[in-house]
Amino acid sequence: MAPPILKLDNIYLSFGGAPLLAGVNMQIEPGDRVCLVGRNGSGKSTLLKMAAGLAEPQNGEVYRHPSSTVRYLNQAPDFEGFSTVEAYAAAGLGPSDDPYRVTYLLEHLGLSGDQDPESLSGGEARRAALARVLAPEPDILLLDEPTNHLDLPTIEWLEGELVKSRSALIVISHDRRFLEKVSTATIWLDRGVARRLDQGFGHFEAWRDKVLEEEEIEQHKLGKQIEREEHWLRYGVTAGASATCAGSASYRTCARSTVPTKARWAVPKRPFRRLANPVSWWSRRTGSPRPLATGPSSRRSRSGCIAAIGSVLSGRMAPARPPFSRC
Ligand SMILES: Nc1ncnc2c1ncn2[C@@H]1O[C@H](COP(=O)(O)OP(=O)(O)OP(=O)(O)O)[C@@H](O)[C@H]1O
Ligand SMILES: [Mg+2]
Repeated sequence: MAPPILKLDNIYLSFGGAPLLAGVNMQIEPGDRVCLVGRNGSGKSTLLKMAAGLAEPQNGEVYRHPSSTVRYLNQAPDFEGFSTVEAYAAAGLGPSDDPYRVTYLLEHLGLSGDQDPESLSGGEARRAALARVLAPEPDILLLDEPTNHLDLPTIEWLEGELVKSRSALIVISHDRRFLEKVSTATIWLDRGVARRLDQGFGHFEAWRDKVLEEEEIEQHKLGKQIEREEHWLRYGVTAGASATCAGSASYRTCARSTVPTKARWAVPKRPFRRLANPVSWWSRRTGSPRPLATGPSSRRSRSGCIAAIGSVLSGRMAPARPPFSRC
């Protein structure tokens, strides 16, 4: 497998509230043609800008191979300083690139090179921007909605150009047919994380439905297990069950995702007196439930841990506040 020329590692971004990108990982190898898909507002354009170096994540790393060339199709091209379309498109070339590419592209895009770029229509402006990013045949080509404003023949021509291009491609588009034609892999951005399918967009929907179905089955199983654990906690716990419960996957998952931020102290006193060290250590030093998940070992803490777990599960315990400190 060729080393990646673009790698996004554990990308995190939040504009307040739930994070938009919550640990996105993706990597692009030479020759990849990836479509980046997801719902409106899922962060596709933001992620593409990060890949282009035009936006910074709050956490995580973006790695581009140092010798690779990157071109990003700007949604709103800036023609300032260019008196002709040709001058604007040629500004995308590197020193060793073939200037004839600009002529070739402008011709196929139906643009006259000597036109004033400020006078272009929306579709023509998009074509000029495409000529500029395609001209140098960059190592990494990042296209956000390239087919907007284009007519059908131009879209079909663009599909052909991209398929025969040597550039690695990440493309965002809501044009399904276009994506089916050009993509060989799919990255699905969903609820802040990215999943990759090594097949083009034509296979996306079946794969997505399968992923969602598996997720639903897992959620259902987890819900059932939590229900059982809560039942044990309310109506009787055996010492043997406590260790199982404390170490269980459902407990750990639940504790990660549902520990309440505000305390509502309706927890039975007796188990709390028995909680002893594992929980107080957890609450004061880490704020995370991991020590509990390792399983209670002391005679004193067994039933105490079960009480703590029960209160976590039922939303009655906060991790970093009394009464742990009083235990
Ligand atoms: N600078 C910003 N400040 C606040 N919110 C922002 C900022 N930039 C983007 N957002 C929000 O982040 C979310 C994701 O935006 P983004 O444009 O990346 O989505 P998208 O997946 O490309 O959507 P679409 O399919 O509609 O193009 C949106 O809800 C947007 O309002
Ligand atoms: Mg977008």
